[in-house]
Amino acid sequence: MTLEQYLANTLPGVTDIKDVSRAFAPSNIALCKYWGKRQEEFNLPVNSSLSISLGNLGTETSLECSNTDILILNGEELDSSDPFSTRLFNYIDLFRPPSIKLKIETSNTIPTAAGLASSASGFAAVIKALSDLFSWDLSDQRLSEYARIGSGSACRSIYHGFVLWEKGEKHDGSDSFAHLINNSWTDLRLAILDVCSDKKAISSRDAMNRTASSSPYFTQWSDIAQSDLALLLNAIEEKDLHLLMKTAESNAMAMHASMMAAQPTILYFLAESVEMMHKVWACRSSGLSVYFTMDAGPNLKLLYHKDDEAEVLKQFPDAISVNPFVT
Ligand code: DP6
Repeated sequence: MTLEQYLANTLPGVTDIKDVSRAFAPSNIALCKYWGKRQEEFNLPVNSSLSISLGNLGTETSLECSNTDILILNGEELDSSDPFSTRLFNYIDLFRPPSIKLKIETSNTIPTAAGLASSASGFAAVIKALSDLFSWDLSDQRLSEYARIGSGSACRSIYHGFVLWEKGEKHDGSDSFAHLINNSWTDLRLAILDVCSDKKAISSRDAMNRTASSSPYFTQWSDIAQSDLALLLNAIEEKDLHLLMKTAESNAMAMHASMMAAQPTILYFLAESVEMMHKVWACRSSGLSVYFTMDAGPNLKLLYHKDDEAEVLKQFPDAISVNPFVT
């Protein structure tokens, strides 16, 4: 089934269009990473993944019917040839009648200094806003499926809290969506260590495809992801923060190991990333329970118990702390 056929079968018709709609979606950080696709058009993953959403840090998007397409990102109008604009409107074209033109205002509540990618919250916010604009009132499951089509990790940004994205088995992705696992166990805190916010040399999309097609460790990666996911689910069930943070750190390192073995190699670590890792490990040796995770970039995200926040920020004064449970 093609993407167009799948959408034709599942999208409600457009009969009632509001003048304006607005939506917010949180950013999310994976504790068990999504890395590798079994199908590209629908962004269907090889492994299930688990994330924590970042509370009130994310993307706010408003849509307004207009005579022509306009995109304003963080207060500045983007040229229609801008790659972000092209990607976003290509996505929106899948869902809107061709006669509908939109003025989109989108802004990130993530501090720019945090150097966090915003595509996950961006696609999640825009599909929520489209559902509202066309009075579709889509279920969270359907919103998650549709957000995944924009960017895989976006399917997790529909929810606040610990979120599980089930990889599913079906060709049309109808069983590959995220759902909320828990948002009542609130001990975890994060802090973002921005090592470098320059544009990365290789996007996560290209890096995961290269890893899947050329890394001899890719099969091991998906086995590790499966066992890490079981550990993380158990950690959430048992409220075992140490197990959760430890598993998240080793899962991130396993993902990076799989990409280092790709041809040509992919290495997101900068010297300062490695320096910060050693600092985290030194803190742990001296009794502070702090761990990290890393995505497709050089920045570290520290993980720790809320009671250790003051000590963590003392050790890492440049870190930007995040309470993932404030909405
Ligand atoms: C390392 O969701 O950006 O952050 O589906 O191709 O858009 P596409 O990829 P994307 O990849 C995210 C990769 C990651 C891990 C994760 O968030 O699970």
